[in-house]
Amino acid sequence: MIKSNKYTVTAALPYANGPIHIGHLAGVYLPADVFVRFLRRNNVDVVFICGSDEHGVPIAIQAKKENKEPEEIVNKYHYMIKNCFINFGIQFDNYSRTSTKIHYEISTSFFQRFYEEKKIFEKESKQYFDEKEKQFLADRYICGICPYCKKNDAYGDQCENCGNFLNPEDLIHPKSTISGSIPIFEKTKHWYFPLNEYQEFLEKWILIQHKKDWKINVYGQAKSWLNQGLKPRPITRDLNWGIPIPIDGYKGKVMYVWFEAPIGYISSTIEWSKRKKIDWKPYWKDENTKLIQFIGKDNIVFHCIIFPVILKAYNSGYILPDQIFANEFLNLENKKISTSKNWAVWVHEYLEDFPNQQDALRYILIANMPDKKDNNFNWKDFQRRNNNELVSILGNFINRTMTLVKKYNYGIVPYPSNFTKKDEKILESIKNYPNNIGFLIESYNFREALTRFMDLARVGNKYLTEEEPWKKNKEKKRLDTILYISLQIVGILAQLSEPFLPHTAKKLLDMLRLKPCFWSNIKNIEKMLPPGHLLGRSSLLFKVITNEKIEKQLIKLGKVKKF
Ligand code: MF3
Ligand code: ZN
Repeated sequence: MIKSNKYTVTAALPYANGPIHIGHLAGVYLPADVFVRFLRRNNVDVVFICGSDEHGVPIAIQAKKENKEPEEIVNKYHYMIKNCFINFGIQFDNYSRTSTKIHYEISTSFFQRFYEEKKIFEKESKQYFDEKEKQFLADRYICGICPYCKKNDAYGDQCENCGNFLNPEDLIHPKSTISGSIPIFEKTKHWYFPLNEYQEFLEKWILIQHKKDWKINVYGQAKSWLNQGLKPRPITRDLNWGIPIPIDGYKGKVMYVWFEAPIGYISSTIEWSKRKKIDWKPYWKDENTKLIQFIGKDNIVFHCIIFPVILKAYNSGYILPDQIFANEFLNLENKKISTSKNWAVWVHEYLEDFPNQQDALRYILIANMPDKKDNNFNWKDFQRRNNNELVSILGNFINRTMTLVKKYNYGIVPYPSNFTKKDEKILESIKNYPNNIGFLIESYNFREALTRFMDLARVGNKYLTEEEPWKKNKEKKRLDTILYISLQIVGILAQLSEPFLPHTAKKLLDMLRLKPCFWSNIKNIEKMLPPGHLLGRSSLLFKVITNEKIEKQLIKLGKVKKF
């Protein structure tokens, strides 16, 4: 059910500390994009917001690694990531960055108000310090064994394995990730957000209001934090990279990245509204607006606990998210994707190796979306699905239909004659696809939605194969009827494909000389593709992917040895 005519949809701001890989796409950006494209086709007023997360320890660490200044790092990766999204068809209304002036102003105003209204407090504590590097160790600057799941390499703020929220002091055998040395305790002062004061508010909002409509992974994690009891969390850091805190006498202290980055959703919306010369407030402060947030599994706590508390504490009518959607992880060739081990398929490399085949990757990643449990991408499966499904079913059906119409009816939608029982059944049943698929997208079942879409292509392919319009002695009347019906299916496929395969949709609509229509009108395809409608020129939709191409990718991964 589309719940409102105004939506604000956000996708987690990726750290500008490296390129994005298929895990990012399958986990966050593809589901968000499918969802938004669907809303747009329903005439919903939706703004789709993202941007680069340019602060925090992850950036500082990468700068050190590449022996560059943090500014250079974020510039390099911001544009690289932005281009990947554009090329891949992730259609944000605004892709900002947290280094913009507007973001500094907005996040500073949040901090300032919390300070003035005494919603945050200062506390002195002892924190881990790296004597070699002369630096305090927070977040990813420190790692150790997770006290909950006992896995190695948990970070000072979070364990990526079990998702638990940590403090550096919780780690067993802590170690500095910069120098590898064992840290000592030093005194420092920080500003804290008393999350405990918001326990009741969060319990009401999450445990009562969203028990049923949030995905179990998101709800479960949020619930387990609430069950553990919330504690005050520091929202400042001793770092020289980040947004300085707006209080005198705190040189060298910046806002915690997870304090300011989510505010980036708001500043990115404001940036967009200024460009568009419209008011941003209805997108964040109108009770009827739905805020939907697509995030990574390791971002759950920040979006379910910290950001809502920030919005609530600011007390100026901000709406809370209606849905916080996170997938599980996508593995690559049955192994966890790892940036440091270079075990990944990088989006910018894919775009180079498979030019104009964005939709093939979109297809495979949606089909293998890790929505309920971890899922796997492997190159052989990618090849198989591309060749057996996109090429042999969807592409083949459309191609055969277009060629036959060209050959037998000058590329014009023919006039049908008497429909057989089977024809009537098909014409009736294809009208249900838009609604069924729409319902699946609305309920965040992107994988099933795509399966249904392919089912329709299968229906068409099977119909054509069984009716054999190319047989020599076919009566022209019957031939026309078969082609008419096949074209109606092609038309529906063209309209339905957009959320999943936007590049293909564009080609297909051009081939049919159709305009994109509202989702609810797709079932009236017979009005859009009436007899006598002249079709356009056909173009190649999908390309067979050869064994050589797949070998190359496996070699790149080091799975197959070079000869
Ligand atoms: N940069 C974070 C990550 O890549 C996500 C930040 S989301 C935001 O995991 F809420 F902070 F914006
Ligand atoms: Zn853990």
